[in-house]
Amino acid sequence: MKEKLLKKFEEIYGTSEDAKVYFAPGRVNLIGEHTDYNGGHVLPCALTIGTYVVAKKRQDKKLRFFSMNYQESGITEGALGDLKYRRSNGWTNYPIGILWTYQKKGYRIHSGFDMLLYGDIPSGAGLGTSASIGVALGLMIREMFEIDDITNEDIALFGQYAENEFHGINCGIMDQFASAMGKKDMAIFLDTSDLRYSYAPLNMKEYALVITNSHKARGAFDAKYNERRHECERALAQLQSVAAIQSLGELTPECYEQIKEMIVEPVLVKRAAHAVYENQRTIDAIDALTAGDMARFGRLMIESHRSLRDNYEVTGRELDTLVEEALKVPGVLGSRMTGGGFGGCTVTLMKREAIEHFIIEVGKNYTEKTGYYAEFYNIEVGDGARAL
Ligand code: GLA
Repeated sequence: MKEKLLKKFEEIYGTSEDAKVYFAPGRVNLIGEHTDYNGGHVLPCALTIGTYVVAKKRQDKKLRFFSMNYQESGITEGALGDLKYRRSNGWTNYPIGILWTYQKKGYRIHSGFDMLLYGDIPSGAGLGTSASIGVALGLMIREMFEIDDITNEDIALFGQYAENEFHGINCGIMDQFASAMGKKDMAIFLDTSDLRYSYAPLNMKEYALVITNSHKARGAFDAKYNERRHECERALAQLQSVAAIQSLGELTPECYEQIKEMIVEPVLVKRAAHAVYENQRTIDAIDALTAGDMARFGRLMIESHRSLRDNYEVTGRELDTLVEEALKVPGVLGSRMTGGGFGGCTVTLMKREAIEHFIIEVGKNYTEKTGYYAEFYNIEVGDGARAL
């Protein structure tokens, strides 16, 4: 892959001398959905698909961008002195946003660069594409300008900052953290309230995890996502009249049950219940995983999906159908939507020997019921962001 990318860089920019290649992966979240902006726990892992960036420093302040995913746009140009979000910039808002973030955080970048980007995450699948772009670019800038007081965790935080403040998407830290900090064959158990984390081996033995792409476009995702976040903030504000808490993630289900009548609107009661119980499920899931109790892990996945469907209302007919059909297949232990929802993918835990039957049955029934075509990927858990 590295050679292929360098060759393309040379074709586009004339030479690849001194050009470097960087990679940051996408992610799949096993459990702990919509908890990361509520100070709860998440359990994602990094994939082996992601975003590649090839870049080379320039002597002037010009920025030149080329994406192999949008070849027809050719090379587009920008300037270090003009780091503004513009709709018309399209994907180049990503590198511009990361440069802008470095500047905001007090880092002075004096020269421009030529860069080429290539991503191999299926588009619109909700597998952390934009986070992987942000993290790959954050890494590229750190390495290219030899900024040595920035850790991979900072790169994740910079990526999230760019999404929040430059792109106006109020995402949590999960996707960027998984992309920057992932480890081969490990899940990351992250407490988003203080960013303490540990790695848990994915000792799958006779089990397997499969991602199913619903191919349902995640329409108006950003608006609906931001709306959920505001609903949680409102629920929290109402609970704060009786509890000294900073986030919903601080509440155990027992505490929550005692004070939930402080929340006035019924819809906010459901949103808060999801945040609190999903956090507890994630804590229980890491115990199950560590104990090798995959049946319990599977049950927690099923409960997670039901809560995302009924309390958080972020699933939709396609994801619900995929999960229902998955659970009918012998050997399946659990299945749930993964990522932000409203389309995108599910993740399913099953006995390894069930995979073939699962793909045939779920593929057929899903198309019959929804008219969409499902695609299946075996999960390969890879390392986080790195220079190649
Ligand atoms: C998106 C966001 C994450 C997280 C998930 C839901 O992927 O980018 O921060 O909130 O949705 O768990």
